[in-house]
Amino acid sequence: MTGILITGASGFLGRKLYDTLKAVGDMPVYGTYLTKPQEGLISLDITDPEQVREVLNRTKPDIIIHAAAMASVDICEQRQEEAYNANVTGTRNLVRNLVSHADGCTFVFISTDYVFDGSKGSYTEEDAPNPINHYGKTKLEAERAVLAYSRSLVVRVSSLYGYNPHGVNHGFVHFVISNLSSGKQVRAFYDQINCPTLIDDIAPAILKLLRKKKTGLFHLCGPKALSRADIALETANEFKLKASLIERVSIERLSFRQSQTGGKTNLEKMRGDRSFSEQTRPVTGGVSEHFDTSKQPAERPRNSSLDTSRIRAEGIVMHGFKAGLKIMREQMACAI
Ligand SMILES: NC(=O)c1ccc[n+]([C@@H]2O[C@H](COP(=O)([O-])OP(=O)(O)OC[C@H]3O[C@@H](n4cnc5c(N)ncnc54)[C@H](OP(=O)(O)O)[C@@H]3O)[C@@H](O)[C@H]2O)c1
Repeated sequence: MTGILITGASGFLGRKLYDTLKAVGDMPVYGTYLTKPQEGLISLDITDPEQVREVLNRTKPDIIIHAAAMASVDICEQRQEEAYNANVTGTRNLVRNLVSHADGCTFVFISTDYVFDGSKGSYTEEDAPNPINHYGKTKLEAERAVLAYSRSLVVRVSSLYGYNPHGVNHGFVHFVISNLSSGKQVRAFYDQINCPTLIDDIAPAILKLLRKKKTGLFHLCGPKALSRADIALETANEFKLKASLIERVSIERLSFRQSQTGGKTNLEKMRGDRSFSEQTRPVTGGVSEHFDTSKQPAERPRNSSLDTSRIRAEGIVMHGFKAGLKIMREQMACAI
């Protein structure tokens, strides 16, 4: 392998991919940012075809790991055109350049369990996607554009957690730690389920798939399906925080709120609520507030857990949630 380009290397997952692959040390690793410059990273807006062309010509990668996206489910719902540009048009700009200029490059796309509607759970790669929010729709359309390119690998990850000493830290686990540490209550759904995935596991798994010259679709997530309430509880236990501050609530609570808003959907109500855009901005430490069960404009799949037989057959072992939390806590302790 010679050169790897990671888009979105200033983000939560992208920065971990960048650091891990740099540490492997046997190939040049390039990373890009959009609004958060970091030392060593290259500026790139994937929605601009000229910038995409210029960066690909400059770095000439053999492998692109495309982690850049508008990744907030709620912000995608609120700013649908912007989300489409970043997630679909941006992805197409990258793939189009490979077809015309750099054939031979392998393209890895980071996708999501939110391409499923959540009515079934334990989804395999053969199951038909049916996204129920705008984020999921854009990621599915991007997946299809990527899979049309012959040397492509699409990995669907789910509910990312972990610690990144150089990058943005966000996700549900950070939300729980941040709130419980400051004595705030956390309301968590007992009936929203997925497979929490440690960010540290993703780069080694992708490398393994690339070394085996795999292409196509893989579900790359933690081994166990857990509800948000159980994730919150396990997090409180591992970080020795007050579990009594966790309130288990039903996701149906959101539907209940809709019926209380004069027939408007949750999204329509939030759009009319001028304070909402403030509430969804990241708060101190990069933890976004959109996990607050009363403030979610985008519908979530109830059970988007993924079957991981295909990666296991390739010898890929992902950390269980308890073991992953322990790794995260130890990394956070070292960083203090
Ligand atoms: N977080 C999860 O639980 C989760 C679950 C399933 C799938 N995923 C997928 O995993 C990937 C990484 O997610 P994440 O949570 O790490 O996201 P993140 O922290 O929000 O990072 C997103 C990255 O994309 C960059 N970016 C956004 N728009 C861009 C554009 N137009 N051009 C170039 N770069 C752009 C951002 O740059 P700046 O920060 O510099 O602006 C940032 O580096 C995404 O593809 C997401 O869909 C995430």
